[in-house]
Amino acid sequence: MERIFKIFFVALIFFINVNYIVGCEIKKNIEPNKEWWQTAQLYQIYPRSFKDSDGDGIGDLNGITDKLDYFKEIGITAVWLSPIFQSPMADFGYDIKDFYDIHYEYGTMKDFENLIKKAKQIGLKIILDFVPNHSSNESEWFKKSIDRDPEYEDFYVWEDGVDDPQNPGKKLPPSNWRSSFRGSAWQWNEKRQQFYLHQFGVQQPDLNYRNPRVVERMKHVLRFWLNKGVDGFRIDAILNLFEVPRFPNGTYSNEPKSGLTDDPEDFDYLEHIYTQNQPETIDMVYQWRQLVDDYKRVHNTETKVMLLEIYSSPEITSKMYGNMSMEGAHLPFNFNFIFQLNSNLNAKDVKAATDNWLLNIPSKRTANWVIGNHDRRRIGTRYGLEKIDHMNMLVMILPGVSVTYQGEELGMLDGIISWEETVDPAGCNSNSSIYEKFSRDPCRTPFQWDDTKNAGFTTKEKPWLPMAPKYEELNVKMELAAKESHLKIYKSLMELRKTKTIKFGDYKYDAISDDVFVVLRTYKDFKILLVENFSNKEQEVDLVKRFGALPELNLKIKNLGSNKDLGANFNVEKLILNKFEALVFTTKSLE
Ligand code: GLC
Ligand code: MG
Repeated sequence: MERIFKIFFVALIFFINVNYIVGCEIKKNIEPNKEWWQTAQLYQIYPRSFKDSDGDGIGDLNGITDKLDYFKEIGITAVWLSPIFQSPMADFGYDIKDFYDIHYEYGTMKDFENLIKKAKQIGLKIILDFVPNHSSNESEWFKKSIDRDPEYEDFYVWEDGVDDPQNPGKKLPPSNWRSSFRGSAWQWNEKRQQFYLHQFGVQQPDLNYRNPRVVERMKHVLRFWLNKGVDGFRIDAILNLFEVPRFPNGTYSNEPKSGLTDDPEDFDYLEHIYTQNQPETIDMVYQWRQLVDDYKRVHNTETKVMLLEIYSSPEITSKMYGNMSMEGAHLPFNFNFIFQLNSNLNAKDVKAATDNWLLNIPSKRTANWVIGNHDRRRIGTRYGLEKIDHMNMLVMILPGVSVTYQGEELGMLDGIISWEETVDPAGCNSNSSIYEKFSRDPCRTPFQWDDTKNAGFTTKEKPWLPMAPKYEELNVKMELAAKESHLKIYKSLMELRKTKTIKFGDYKYDAISDDVFVVLRTYKDFKILLVENFSNKEQEVDLVKRFGALPELNLKIKNLGSNKDLGANFNVEKLILNKFEALVFTTKSLE
């Protein structure tokens, strides 16, 4: 008996080893054990502009639910929704009146529960926007704070201000701080006879995170939505959460001039050393991470993920990921491709922006790539039409998580919106000659479903924002039917993202000249090679010189302008790239 057992045992060890070396099923053990979010394709929905189901010209939750299959079709792992909560819409939902309820134009709590249920059925994860820095000035909390209700009295940042020497009896704000939407960040309240702080619009009073009641209340909000079954949060405007501590007399340090603009009303007039990136913010992020991790453990769920909207130095961004003893956000957003690149971008710039992220994040953390959102110019408008596919290819082939803002898969362009049509407070608070510099309306125009009037977004004559140019060709219906389109390229990229080569493969990237950027992903003998020409001139490149001997590679995906043959084999030692050509090669078989 003992002998049989011994033989069995030796055989078992042998079997495990052989499989480990030869690599069949058991080799799973040697693959990095990645969680769902680490190889995810994220997609941002701007609910107001995605799909209108009830003909009021405004997108809504049932519209999203009706279109869930679209995400399956294009291969999305998780969608994050810009705010859907009750709001007077001064900042289109980023001014929340009730953190626990759905905005009436978007639907009801029942509609939301239905959306979650349907999403779960098809395996799509739903992430909500969490806006911790401020509420709406119409929220009950703020009203009670004005009335000095003891529970709410210190919910916001209230100060007396200082006597105005020019106007006896009048007060001046406690500091020179500017609002992100122009003008002073302090607003006088007649009833309470004090100023309140608003780092964004006047209608968005900043919550006071030095008050433990506020901290507790916002944690309650997070738990409420976790109980509804959401898969995580995108956390808004995290930089602004804390301000420098006040002086005992209720004033604050003035911020120095930045030298960036002469316009004293402009947010960029000052360097925001006292209103952004305060050390307390990092601790708050760690506390929220603890909360979502606790939730996961207690309820035995999949990981609830935290995405952070953070425009910061690599040093602070790294801290947001966590440190040796505390976990932070799973994914502090990487906006390098938005801020470090412009329409003249070349390969060297892409390399610098990539280095700036990959060489700075702590090891073992998951990288991520964002190229657009509801606050910034669209890719086609910002970098030029001919680079739309380049950018989608980059963010989907570089290692880590890739984030798509709705419509970027179609190559949607910014809308053209007159001063009269402008509704974004960042634009409206300026004037008719400079509003285009500030308004975010152009990137928020309705999603383009088809080539009918209003692009199939709404049946209403006039949607809340007009359609963007070229919607008749840049829409889901036409692009799915076309032989070649941005959407088809996006879908092919998504197929690649399912491979182990993208999920677990090694990576190398480089600017092999000023104009040509390359990325090589390798997993065992499998390879994916991206080659992008950012110039308007033909280029000849030698990839063997850069990467050493390469196996036979076939053209798998090409940008819209390319005339090369898909499937064909190319000599990568002497590869001729046409102007603005972007090509993805792979080994014949691919895992
Ligand atoms: C974030 C949002 C932006 C909003 C601001 C205030 O930056 O992305 O749209 O206006 O926060 O909540
Ligand atoms: Mg509607």
